[in-house]
Amino acid sequence: MIEKDFIPLAYQQEVNEAKITWKSPSNIALVKYWGKKANQIPANPSISFTLSACATTTTVEFEKKQNPSTDFDFDFFFEGRPKEDFKPKITAFFERTKAYLPFLESYYLKISSSNSFPHSSGIASSASGMAALALCLVDFERRLNPEISEAHFNRKASFLARLGSGSACRSIEGSLVQWGAHSGTKESSDLYGIRYTGEVHPNFNRFHDTILLVDKGQKQVSSTVGHGLMHDHPFSEQRFAQAHHNLSSLQSILASGDLKAFIQLVESEALTLHAMMMTSLPYFVLMKPNTLEIINRIWAFRQTSDTHLCFTLDAGANVHVLYPENEKKQVYRFIQDELLPFCEHGQHICDRIGFGAKKITTTLHT
Ligand code: PMV
Repeated sequence: MIEKDFIPLAYQQEVNEAKITWKSPSNIALVKYWGKKANQIPANPSISFTLSACATTTTVEFEKKQNPSTDFDFDFFFEGRPKEDFKPKITAFFERTKAYLPFLESYYLKISSSNSFPHSSGIASSASGMAALALCLVDFERRLNPEISEAHFNRKASFLARLGSGSACRSIEGSLVQWGAHSGTKESSDLYGIRYTGEVHPNFNRFHDTILLVDKGQKQVSSTVGHGLMHDHPFSEQRFAQAHHNLSSLQSILASGDLKAFIQLVESEALTLHAMMMTSLPYFVLMKPNTLEIINRIWAFRQTSDTHLCFTLDAGANVHVLYPENEKKQVYRFIQDELLPFCEHGQHICDRIGFGAKKITTTLHT
């Protein structure tokens, strides 16, 4: 599919008012997206576990404007309160998506959002937030054009979410989502994420992700700036090639259930992501001393126990500890005893692999 396939045909139905709610999960990448071209086109393919507990719930109320204008007319509420400082981000999102959602300028939108995870926990809500908003918009469009197929609905939601925040395109479906053109994956696309349909060994069923909140402060360098620094990066070409190769290897690992190979690949991806940050110009470090302490303790515990936990990182200091369902008691006890002391106030989130976004409600007035 190409961009113009997401421009809808003329709308067939009239809807004056509607209220639509979706809940979208966050996701954690196993092969990382770091570096992008114009319009949020990734420089390399990535794959993620869709999460379950960390999610954003968004309600959009649509009301047809009496006097249509070419402005975007909306209000944004976060956890019940107006949040003006988030509006420019939404306006930019509407600007990028209006060609694909021509109804946008004809309606007033009241957008209300809340997160299941604590505010300013250092967990990015842009992936789950943009995915939930994109789903509400596509769902509304489905009322105007009821013929949209389920497959097109999911693709369009992912396509739009990508225009809001790249990794958000992996927060529509579950439980593994791949994004970015990859020679070994039919149907893969730079434009949207696809549900991973390759074989997945039962070792990965109900996989756990305990997120350790090491540093809840504002990041010194945003993802947008970090992606940009990959442009003139001395190692970018090797890194992008490596991501393609790692994705192919991970597909075999997912099928075979080889947990040792999984650990090696996932940890190497996390450290490579941070190595790219440390070797860009300007260079920067997002890990904190406690991030390294946790990593070292994970390695030491793995050597002395017969467990298969590993870590991954996103663009921050927090650590995601991944482990299989059948080791959960032993690993969680270790996390409580040895890792929580390195988290801010012992804070952590027990999450696990999830099944994608869920529609909560729709009310319509035609
Ligand atoms: O979606 P963005 O622009 O916030 O970038 C996310 C990048 C990483 O989280 C570091 C990696 C990934 O693939 O999610």
